[in-house]
Amino acid sequence: MIPNIILVGFMGCGKSSVGRRLAALAGHRFLDTDDLVVENEGLSIPEIFSAAGEEGFRLCEEAALADLDGVTGIVLSTGGGIILRETNRERIRRLGIVIWLDADPEILFERATRSGRRPLLQTADPRARFLGLLESRRPLYTEVSDARVDSGNLTHDEAAQSILDAVMRVQNSGRQVGGC
Ligand code: S3P
Repeated sequence: MIPNIILVGFMGCGKSSVGRRLAALAGHRFLDTDDLVVENEGLSIPEIFSAAGEEGFRLCEEAALADLDGVTGIVLSTGGGIILRETNRERIRRLGIVIWLDADPEILFERATRSGRRPLLQTADPRARFLGLLESRRPLYTEVSDARVDSGNLTHDEAAQSILDAVMRVQNSGRQVGGC
């Protein structure tokens, strides 16, 4: 039986696109914490940031994640900053096997700025902001994840398969999770 799979990683790593393919491969339901926040609040992510600030967004994000306690059969893509709160990191590890989807910083930056819709990068110097956030978060992605997959040179389908392989290795190593 395939456990819940949680994808963490920085903006632009491909969590949502790869996560959808991974869910199809695993026969799981795909969920995305950003989508859950948008559904719960009836507002877009930029609208939540402008109305309630980053702190307000983090509260909504924590609540959306808490709603998933005990849920099974999911691939969950998470917002890049979800790992900032310790309660979220604990919850994510209880929920399933955690994979850090990573790539070279230049690839991440190019992908993350393509849409122009990420509130945290709406600054005078998005590159400096991006690199600063990436550096400060790397230790948290390392701490929370069971394995890291580099998506830089992989198609979405290849990345999904690599993640599934990594999940099976972690599961065979005896890691116990809820949802399985
Ligand atoms: C954020 C990443 C975004 C979204 C919000 C904050 C972050 O999700 O949750 O804009 O703090 O890195 P993606 O990682 O899907 O872009």
